[in-house]
Amino acid sequence: MGETAVVVRDLRKRYGAVQAAGGVSFDVAPGEIFGIIGANGSGKTTTIECLQGLRKRDSGVALVLGLDPQTQGIALRHRIGSQLQESSLPERLRVWEALDLFAALSPRSRDWRELLEEWDLVQKWNSAFADLSGGQRQRLFVALALVNDPEIVFLDEMTTGLDPAARHAAWDLVREIRRRGTTVVLVTHFMDEAEDLCDRIAVFKQGRVVALDTPQGLVSHYAGRSTVRFTTNDGSFDWLRECPGFESMERDGRRIAIRGRGPLLAHVAAALVARGIAPPDLEVERGTLEDAYMAISQEAAP
Ligand SMILES: Nc1ncnc2c1ncn2[C@@H]1O[C@H](COP(=O)(O)OP(=O)(O)OP(=O)(O)O)[C@@H](O)[C@H]1O
Ligand SMILES: [Mg+2]
Repeated sequence: MGETAVVVRDLRKRYGAVQAAGGVSFDVAPGEIFGIIGANGSGKTTTIECLQGLRKRDSGVALVLGLDPQTQGIALRHRIGSQLQESSLPERLRVWEALDLFAALSPRSRDWRELLEEWDLVQKWNSAFADLSGGQRQRLFVALALVNDPEIVFLDEMTTGLDPAARHAAWDLVREIRRRGTTVVLVTHFMDEAEDLCDRIAVFKQGRVVALDTPQGLVSHYAGRSTVRFTTNDGSFDWLRECPGFESMERDGRRIAIRGRGPLLAHVAAALVARGIAPPDLEVERGTLEDAYMAISQEAAP
């Protein structure tokens, strides 16, 4: 595999008056789990459909595994896996038939019985597509995206409609997919999923990438404040104002809350311990990816 799994530079796509992608740029490294988050209509699906050769971009560069999806789509098709946001299959097609068919169409394939087990579809192996529940259909589409043992898989809202246990099982499977060497591009609206799974995340807004970093990087940049709390019987704690990153302190009876930036908990804990104080209930509340996402979405448009 080349040095970069995906290269996107200034990709643009317009549908009539709507500029769905207005200059998207990012790279995905081989073996990475790359997340894409952003508001409804921000151009996520349009962009990854252009990368899979399912839509034609108006301009810009797109390379997937070194190939241009627009002109080398046939060579690319067997090397990528696609789980689309909107998919369907013939109503009477059975689960095993769909997997068998997709495997037969691919020069390289995985044993689809393994995929039935991994995606918890063994009991439904002989069911018609029409008789599957929403979550079972979703799991079948992910299994179908993996049957050709792809080098890179595009998952567009993979866990939408899955119950909580199935979602967590899906996350484990995505990590397993990556362990097998497959690069993963994952579009999601679930911030916990993005934070838990992704190595890096691009935040889309109005057809552009407005932030791109590791989950921790996004949180510390856009939601970097934390609050350290503890209970005490002691007198003044004004000396905690000297802690690096300190911003404010509130006291409500015996409860103390300190707000600040950076590794505030470590500094407060060290300062307390240095004075022989070890509050048993010392705790920290940190920003989450959801806080960072909200901060990014409230910033002025690019
Ligand atoms: N086939 C189409 N024809 C016309 N407009 C379209 C078409 N597909 C998408 N759009 C428009 O392009 C914009 C981007 O859509 P896209 O599906 O890429 O968004 P998205 O980020 O995937 O949103 P969601 O989170 O809702 O899936 C939207 O304004 C949408 O209405
Ligand atoms: Mg979409």
